[in-house]
Amino acid sequence: MADKKTAKLVLPDGKEATLPVIVGTEDEHAIDVRSLRQDTGYITLDSGYMNTGSTTSAITYLDGEQGILRYRGYSIEELAEKSDFVETSYLLINNHLPTKAEREEFGRLLTRHSLIHEDMHQFFAGYPPTSHPMAVLSAMVTSLSAYYPDSLERNSDTEMHITRILSKVRTIAAFAYKKSIGQPLMYPKNSLKYCGNFLHMMFAVPSEDYAISPVLEKALNQLLILHADHEQNCSTSTVRMVGSSGANLYAAIAAGILALWGPLHGGANQAVIEMLEEIKAAGGDYKKFIDDVKNKRDNRRLMGFGHRVYKNYDPRAKILKKMCDEVLQHLGIKDPLLEVAKGMEEIALKDDYFVSKKLYPNVDFYSGIIYRAMGIPTNMFTVMFALGRLPGWIAHWKEMVEDPQTKIGRPRQIYTGEKVRKYVPIEQR
Ligand code: ACO
Repeated sequence: MADKKTAKLVLPDGKEATLPVIVGTEDEHAIDVRSLRQDTGYITLDSGYMNTGSTTSAITYLDGEQGILRYRGYSIEELAEKSDFVETSYLLINNHLPTKAEREEFGRLLTRHSLIHEDMHQFFAGYPPTSHPMAVLSAMVTSLSAYYPDSLERNSDTEMHITRILSKVRTIAAFAYKKSIGQPLMYPKNSLKYCGNFLHMMFAVPSEDYAISPVLEKALNQLLILHADHEQNCSTSTVRMVGSSGANLYAAIAAGILALWGPLHGGANQAVIEMLEEIKAAGGDYKKFIDDVKNKRDNRRLMGFGHRVYKNYDPRAKILKKMCDEVLQHLGIKDPLLEVAKGMEEIALKDDYFVSKKLYPNVDFYSGIIYRAMGIPTNMFTVMFALGRLPGWIAHWKEMVEDPQTKIGRPRQIYTGEKVRKYVPIEQR
């Protein structure tokens, strides 16, 4: 990273500020404003952080214009095809692909730490069946810090907490689902791999044998890999922000889960299916829906389209579209929602409204249809996203706590309220 170039800023009073320019390994340029306020009294204002880098990071490279996504230098296409979720998690967290021995040990630890404290089972019973599983998941992840109080200490065993959270979130997600449908909680099985174990905890029942479909296990691995990291998005920035205060890993991840929940972020996969179902229920006229979106009627948006960073086809959506056909074919499912989705995509990709705004399908457009075909209910989709994003959040949290330059996240503001005024006693108002 070179920092020899500078940029000049001319202020309204004619004074000049010279600011260092930072260049990343992929030739991305940033003006370093860290000394701006101290030197000039000015701050920068950038609501939504459209132009603001909050950190340097060596985890994920994303070029939204070219549609490129790489984890630790490896292309998402190659990882989705050749890796599995556990190996990709290791890569994100440790910055290298594991050796055979490292991979085995990591897998062994994830298997060993999959159980949650028996007392936590009672928590699930306390939630009404209508609870959104994201509410349950976030609360349970926060609760893990109560069961591992050493996570609050300065020199706690970070590696162990990382292993625990990666393994237990999967168990919690499946338990939340089982509870919501009134079925007995299925304990994890040590003979199964990470994704197969999740499918077992979700879909097996004690009274019957459950055979894991290798096609679904592979699809789940790929889905989770595609969601595993996406640099400084809303939830990851939240994890970093919360972690920057010194809050423990479980607290930071729980905050990330909550940020993910919103329909403009990870909640979009649920919103896409709801949109498609609504269109189908109203007779399937998706052209009319697209017309409503274009005319901003009722503030409608084409959910699963558009992205803050991608101004090209999201590379993850490309992989998912193909996977969607394969999974549905394997399961012998013909989902009418897929036809609606494909029809909408075809129109949108040619329509000037979407083309001029560079709105393309994002990762959420097809993922919901795959989850649905796998038997995962709509309100669990964002939980699936959280499960996938977990290694990315952990990698960013670790990078942040290990960086000696980290400071508590604390943006400034420009105050636009009243100037100082005198307090008026209530009788005189
Ligand atoms: N449908 C219709 N119009 C859209 C859409 C959409 N999905 N997305 C953006 N636009 C329009 C906006 O109305 C706006 O139009 P205007 O210039 O006429 O006002 C313009 O495109 C720019 O949109 P912004 O909201 O300013 O773009 P921003 O970068 O802030 O938002 C976002 C990105 C939130 C993802 C947006 O595209 C969106 O709401 N998409 C739908 C929700 C979604 O799929 N979210 C998942 C994102 S991926 C993820 O988080 C995993």
